Amino acid sequence: MRSVEWLGSALRVLDQTRLPSEEVWLELRDPGEVAEAIKSMRVRGAPLLGAVAAYGLALAAVRSRAASKEELLLELEEAAELIRSTRPTAVNLFWAIERVLKAAREAEGDVEAIREAVVREANLIAEEDVAMNKRIGKHGQALVPQRATILTHCNAGALATVGYGTALGVVRAAVEAGKEVHVIATETRPLLQGARLTAYELLKDGINVTLITDNMVGYVMAKGMIDLVVVGADRIVRDGVFNKIGTYSIAVLAKEHGIPFYVAAPSSTLDLSRASSEVVIEERDPREVTHVGPIRIAPEGVKVLNPAFDFTPMRYITAIITEDGVFKPDELLKRYG
Ligand code: MRU
Repeated sequence: MRSVEWLGSALRVLDQTRLPSEEVWLELRDPGEVAEAIKSMRVRGAPLLGAVAAYGLALAAVRSRAASKEELLLELEEAAELIRSTRPTAVNLFWAIERVLKAAREAEGDVEAIREAVVREANLIAEEDVAMNKRIGKHGQALVPQRATILTHCNAGALATVGYGTALGVVRAAVEAGKEVHVIATETRPLLQGARLTAYELLKDGINVTLITDNMVGYVMAKGMIDLVVVGADRIVRDGVFNKIGTYSIAVLAKEHGIPFYVAAPSSTLDLSRASSEVVIEERDPREVTHVGPIRIAPEGVKVLNPAFDFTPMRYITAIITEDGVFKPDELLKRYG
């Protein structure tokens, strides 16, 4: 399953707000449409945000009528600014934009040469993502026992990446290695990425999955039902990991129950020069909490807190799985820091 396709003058993406009831593909034609799709979470998940942001710049480049190199670079900077302003937490978005801008600045030749360099870099980011996820899967599956129940949170699957997934890449690789894997997926309020997306993509692949509500995690762990936890990440800083709200509670519970807690993420999610105090956690619309879909579940006028992510300190993390291997937190800093 691939969640994004470059058409040459448009970007084809699966509208994740419509899943699982409808598979609706959208064609995004300019950086404004890309920014809207990111903000409204039609596309989401850190690695996919990186690829889509890169393609947003590719759209700016192919649509541009700039007569000079300087003019095109300016238009690309403007498009970058717009896309950067959508969601602040996942570092892949900023990483991919920087990579594409660098390729544009360094391209030698005329306007056409810059255009080609931008599209080439965006395609490269997308292709590399799938390759990195397969390698994450290969390293991660070695940690999975022959028969295992894996708890995961949110959606760090094919839908959150260009393809294959990070946490669900580990699950897929374990299944491909002939292991008997059962996934327990948390529903992941408020936007239900676990219920809507993880359950959907695992069922589609015929992988054994059971859905629980977020407040059942302590119950399943205390019952001895979980062998390991594998989640994705939006940004890994030197003192810990930012991921979907609720990850921290799961990590604390895992430690209490002696269950290994793994984070699976490509190196494009690493931001080790920063500490957690420097990272902005996105605060989203209160409506996501007061409503489930179109239905209001809370009284009008109630105050709401809606942070999209939380921070899990390194002491709760058993290891981080990247495309280069499996690293304990101190080893990760030595390898990439
Ligand atoms: O708000 P979302 O749905 O973009 O959040 C997604 C997550 O938190 C994922 O776990 C993370 O981006 C890793 S995806 C491989």
